[in-house]
Amino acid sequence: MKYSNDRVYRDLTYYQYVFNHPNDIPFWINITRRLSAKNILEIGVGDGRIAFPLIENGFFVTGIDISEKMLAAAESHRRNMKTTVRDRLELINANMTNFKISKKFDLVIITSLTFQHLLTIDDQLSCLRMIKEHLCNEGFLIIDVFNPNFTILSDAMSKYPKLVRYLYTFGNEKEIIRDDASSFESCTQNMEVQSTVEYYTAGHLVDKEFVINIGHIFFPREMELLLRLEKFALIEKFGDHDFSNFESFSPRQIVIAKCKA
Ligand SMILES: C[S@@+](CC[C@H](N)C(=O)[O-])C[C@H]1O[C@@H](n2cnc3c(N)ncnc32)[C@H](O)[C@@H]1O
Repeated sequence: MKYSNDRVYRDLTYYQYVFNHPNDIPFWINITRRLSAKNILEIGVGDGRIAFPLIENGFFVTGIDISEKMLAAAESHRRNMKTTVRDRLELINANMTNFKISKKFDLVIITSLTFQHLLTIDDQLSCLRMIKEHLCNEGFLIIDVFNPNFTILSDAMSKYPKLVRYLYTFGNEKEIIRDDASSFESCTQNMEVQSTVEYYTAGHLVDKEFVINIGHIFFPREMELLLRLEKFALIEKFGDHDFSNFESFSPRQIVIAKCKA
């Protein structure tokens, strides 16, 4: 299967319009306070959407990301902040399946479905192993992924999956129309979303592109088993960023884990 998520992160115009969902930010600030964490490692920091509110609230963040483009966007924002605040963020170009940072953290976070970019069990376990090496003794890990929705999965397994249309408008002039067709391979549990994206200015089509995004769908017990294999103990599980309990129909699986003694 072709791995082409890189396309999503290369074009920041597309990424920042389509993936800007600020409603999870209060969750991350709140949970970091509840866990009394100070030094945080964010895996897949992206353009710093979560890291910036965290450093603005007094936390220290080290963010790693595989995409130089995303890190450059984060760095250009960081540079324009007050020195006392910007010094609380360090950005590092690294792969989450294999990295070494010369310090340990009391919290590691993987936000916004980033863990779903890891498509194989080997990569998923390598990432958890790396995290364990970078956690303090009493440190926590939080991973935020989708909870599988069987209606969506069953449609994505049909021969002619439905097209799902999204419309994004910016001011009076600019519009993006995105049509998604998803296909789910039950043998790998990987979901491929093929999107046709049209950019309009003042009603005229100015650009059109085809984007493929592939993510692994984690079933709840699978997530728990992966954690157990790497000797993490599950502490709590939420079903969304409102701290609701995890249930069958929850949109998310947000797991909080700790290394076993
Ligand atoms: C959905 S974005 C999340 C960005 C940010 N955490 C947020 O919540 O807005 C996922 C990020 O993970 C990064 N990423 C994907 N695969 C990665 C890997 N193997 N190692 C490190 N970063 C990776 C992408 O470049 C992208 O910036």
